[in-house]
Amino acid sequence: MASDSNGPASDNTLKAILYQRGSLRLLDQRKLPLESVYLDIQNSTDGWNAIKDMVVRGAPAIAIAAALSLAVEVFNLEAFDGSPGDAASFLGQKLDYLVSSRPTAVNLSDAATKLKEIISKAVASTTEAKCVFQVYIEAAEIMLEDDVASNRAIGSYGASIIQQQTGKRKLSVLTHCNTGSLATAGYGTALGVIRALHSEGVLQRAYCTETRPFSQGSRLTAYELVHEHIPGTLIVDSAAAALMKAGRVDAVVVGADRVASNGDTANKIGTYSVALCAMFHNIPFYVAAPLTSIDLSLSSGQEIVIEERSPKELLNGRGGLGEAVAAPGISVWNPAFDVTPASLISGIITEKGVITKTSDDDDTFDIKAFAQKTGHASS
Ligand code: MRU
Repeated sequence: MASDSNGPASDNTLKAILYQRGSLRLLDQRKLPLESVYLDIQNSTDGWNAIKDMVVRGAPAIAIAAALSLAVEVFNLEAFDGSPGDAASFLGQKLDYLVSSRPTAVNLSDAATKLKEIISKAVASTTEAKCVFQVYIEAAEIMLEDDVASNRAIGSYGASIIQQQTGKRKLSVLTHCNTGSLATAGYGTALGVIRALHSEGVLQRAYCTETRPFSQGSRLTAYELVHEHIPGTLIVDSAAAALMKAGRVDAVVVGADRVASNGDTANKIGTYSVALCAMFHNIPFYVAAPLTSIDLSLSSGQEIVIEERSPKELLNGRGGLGEAVAAPGISVWNPAFDVTPASLISGIITEKGVITKTSDDDDTFDIKAFAQKTGHASS
């Protein structure tokens, strides 16, 4: 890979991750939209903290930032006194540590598993630890490159299915949370679908929810829509039902943090409410996610671990970063994600095509069959 892998952002696209071999900078998303500040990430500890503290967030971006933080660490190691096997254990332990930063998005553990497989193969074919590190660095860099291509494919499949399903010349789409360039290596998943509809000239308007309590919608998605000159309107989370009742939403498209093999989908808290409203108003509800967001080891969404975040996110303004707003002494329940049952989902848009139900009466998706057909059964 060329040394200027994906930066700097001279082409005017928003970039959450700026990487060159040996150097990683992450856009501090807690400061957006008011300030664009990049933080230097020098090792896996910096990577872990950046993920935990929401400097970088969004399932694909978390996985890539984690992998690259370790790539930078090993690139800059002054010396490593050990065998290829020692290098593999060093990398394996650091990857396990990175996976512990946030539990719900499967992309991170999926990336760690794939990287460990690549490391094991490298150990078998070399006598030098530095070759194992080199193979690791290249594999982490490929993850960064592959994500943008896969998002573009999701955008194109999503734009076609939504146009087909609604049969409209101009259509308005509602989304929740942030799934754009800031949540990925670039282009975005659900926001990539909106971007594709816009570039095909069929998007009337994108509606984005605020996404309480961390405001990924008002701070990040609204910022991306304005930046890309996509007609957008911000609503409070609780306005989704009224907007649908008013006939202003033709389709909903959201991202995913983990999709179980029956199609149950964990995504940002509030997604389930939006899906219920969409079902009531007979509006198609799509999940857009790369195959790395699918967890075939889980038979249903009941098995998905939901991250609970600090009460401060509710007790204080600006998602916990601002001054106190709630009555002191109140207890708080703050799950970061919820699970939307497959029965409420019209289709799952991936980079290999759209996963649909076999019949309209089906409550679940057969994702294993889709994965086998597309050669991704091990994901
Ligand atoms: O807590 P966050 O901001 O990491 O949550 C992000 C989401 O829920 C996104 O919808 C999901 O990760 C998909 S991002 C392409």
